[in-house]
Amino acid sequence: MKKNKPSLTAELTTFARAAESAKPATRRLCYDPLARDFLNAPLRLLAKSRVLAGLVVWCAERLAPGVPGEVLGRTKYIDDCLKTSIEDGIEQLVILGAGYDSRPYRFDGLAGAVTVFEVDHPATQRVKMRRVERLLGRLPNHVVFVPVDFEEEKLHRLFEKGYDRNKKTFFIWEGVTYYLSAKAVDETLAFVVENSGTGSSIIFDYAFQKVLQGAADAGQVNRALKAWERIGAPLTTDEHFIFGVKEGTIQEFLAARGFCQIENVNGDSFKSSYFKDLKQSADVSHICGFVRATVRSGNRAPQGS
Ligand SMILES: C[S@@+](CC[C@H](N)C(=O)[O-])C[C@H]1O[C@@H](n2cnc3c(N)ncnc32)[C@H](O)[C@@H]1O
Repeated sequence: MKKNKPSLTAELTTFARAAESAKPATRRLCYDPLARDFLNAPLRLLAKSRVLAGLVVWCAERLAPGVPGEVLGRTKYIDDCLKTSIEDGIEQLVILGAGYDSRPYRFDGLAGAVTVFEVDHPATQRVKMRRVERLLGRLPNHVVFVPVDFEEEKLHRLFEKGYDRNKKTFFIWEGVTYYLSAKAVDETLAFVVENSGTGSSIIFDYAFQKVLQGAADAGQVNRALKAWERIGAPLTTDEHFIFGVKEGTIQEFLAARGFCQIENVNGDSFKSSYFKDLKQSADVSHICGFVRATVRSGNRAPQGS
């Protein structure tokens, strides 16, 4: 990411959620009633019109087939996992690369029970905090903002903000890993493994390595990538896909880094589980996998290291 520019991709994924949430319940893939309020003024205006917002997403689908379905499906998947985690008694929620994620403000069971840490690049987080204040009139007590550039700093800044490494914590890392270096991904995973309480877990999506190498076997991936480059090149804040994991190897990738109970999900699972009862179907690209994993006990770093 460019140093002082907030993330454009965070704005675009929020727009997709806003457009989807305006649909009737029987047609939407996920529901984020606050998404529209988190958008910048022009996109907020555009999202007010269901027809115009739908048209924008329709164009995005033509340019990058399956990408809107992927963004919306992963939001639903992560929402469902967060709900279960809250029921299971997490004490902390850490949202890595939070962008305009509205979960801290729309999920029952967080305020008063779970401390939420929103970690993001300082440039994006500054804008997010202004938008939270605009929306709620203040920054809520249960949410702590931690500005971190994953490429330059370690997550240890969390400790300065009251993060407790003994507590059961759920980490969400949605739509971020592919923009980071392998070193930053490894350091973040190492922090999670070495600094979280028993039963802690992480959920994130990751690009398949073949996508980065341009050797994808699916025409859909190539079309999506080309579209990404076409719309992305003049617009992005320097967020390019640079990190990926070889398809079919996420289990060993995470096991080697101290995780267990690794559940991998792909776009086809979204179609068969989430989209099957809806009155609309959605394509899901084969660019990314989605994974949830628990921290294996015995990997914790000694106190103060
Ligand atoms: C596609 S957005 C995803 C935002 C949000 N998680 C969502 O799903 O809507 C990518 C996010 O990664 C963050 N990001 C990208 N590079 C980063 C870096 N080097 N350090 C910290 N955050 C970064 C951006 O600020 C942005 O919030």
